[in-house]
Amino acid sequence: MDLADLTTLRLGGPARSIIEATTEEHLLEAVRIADEAGDPLLVVGGGSNLVVADAGVDATVVRVLTRGVRVDADACSGAMVTVAAGEPWDEVVARAVTEGWVGVEALSGIPGSTGATPIQNVGAYGQEVSQTVATVRAYDRFDRKIRTIHAVDCGFGYRHSRFKAEPHRWVVLTAAFQFALGELGAPVAYAELARTLGVEIGQRAPAKEVREAVLALRRGKGMVLDPADHDTWSAGSFFTNPLLGPEQAAALPEGAPRFTQPDGSVKTSAAWLIDHAGFGKGYGTPSVALSTKHALALTNRGNGTTEQLLALAREVRDGVRAAYGITLVNEPVLVGCAL
Ligand code: EPU
Repeated sequence: MDLADLTTLRLGGPARSIIEATTEEHLLEAVRIADEAGDPLLVVGGGSNLVVADAGVDATVVRVLTRGVRVDADACSGAMVTVAAGEPWDEVVARAVTEGWVGVEALSGIPGSTGATPIQNVGAYGQEVSQTVATVRAYDRFDRKIRTIHAVDCGFGYRHSRFKAEPHRWVVLTAAFQFALGELGAPVAYAELARTLGVEIGQRAPAKEVREAVLALRRGKGMVLDPADHDTWSAGSFFTNPLLGPEQAAALPEGAPRFTQPDGSVKTSAAWLIDHAGFGKGYGTPSVALSTKHALALTNRGNGTTEQLLALAREVRDGVRAAYGITLVNEPVLVGCAL
C-alpha cells in the first residue's frame, strides 16, 4: 500500500511497513516497538493534512483506527465527551448537533480524525477545537508515559499546539470535550456564516442550521471530500493566514482583508494574496493546480505527483513574496519532502 491510498491528496509513495491500530493497546504497542528499535515512525489519522514524498517514507506508518465515544452528560454541567483518536471528526460533529452538544457545529465537514484536531487546533467559521477541548490524553514518547494534558497546558494558538510543536513526542489517544447543552449553536463569529444564516455576528442560530450552512459553504469552496471532484483532492488550506506586525499590515495593498487579533497583530488572507498575486482559482497544470473553487487549496487533478505539487507551492509562495513581501508558511505536514 502506498501512502497515496491514505491521504486526501492521494499522493505519496510506500512506507517501510503499515500497521493498522484498531485498539489503544495495539497503537501503544506499535509505537513502543518502533521507538525501542529506534525506527522512524509516522502516525497517520485521516491523512487530510499530509504531503508525502513520491519516494515514500522510510518509516513504520501506524494508522490510528481506534474507535469509541464516552458520554457523561447532566443537565447542570453539560456534556463531557471523550472521543478515541481514530473517530472520524465529522461523525462526532454530526452527533454533537443531534445530541445538543454546543460548540463544534461550525466545524462541520472537516475531514480527518478527532485525534488530529487538537494537534493543529483545527478551526473554521469562527470556531476552534481549543474552545471545547477539556483534556487531551496522549502518549509521551520521550518519557514513555501516558499523560492527560488540560486545555490550558495544550499551548493552543492559531493552527498550533504543543503537540504540533513537538511532533515526535506526542501520540494523541483520546480527546475530551466539554460542551454546553442546547439546541442553539454557539454565537456565530464568522461574517460569511452569519450572512448565510441571516443573523448578526454574535447571535445564535439552531446548531442544525449552522451545520447545514457550513457544509454548504465548504462544498462551494471544494472543502468537503468528494472522490468525484478533484477540487477536493487536497490537504485543505495549503498555507496558513499570515499574522502581521503593524508595519507589515500597513503595507498591505488596498482591499486586502485585515482582521485585528486580540494581541494587536493583523491576520490577512493567504487566499486573497495568492489570488491577487496572479494565481487565480484553477491556476496550474492538468496534473496539479489550485482548486477551481478556492485559491488556497492545492489539488491533485488525478495524475499529479508530490514533486509537481511542491513546485506549484513554491511558485505560489515565491510569487506572493515578490508581490507583497510576505512569505506564506505551509499548513499541512510535509513528510520526506520540503518546500
Ligand atoms: N479569497 C480570495 N480568493 C479565493 C478564496 C478566498 O481572494 O479563491 C479571499 C476572500 O477575500 C475571502 C478570504 O479570502 O473573504 C477568506 O477566505 P475564506 O473565508 O474561504 O477563509 P480562508 O481564510 O481562506 C480559513 C481557514 C479554512 C477555513 C475557513 C473558514 C486557514 C488557513 N484556513 O480559510 O480552514 O475553513 O477559513 O473558516 O486558516 C484548513 O485549515 O484547511 C481550512 C480549510
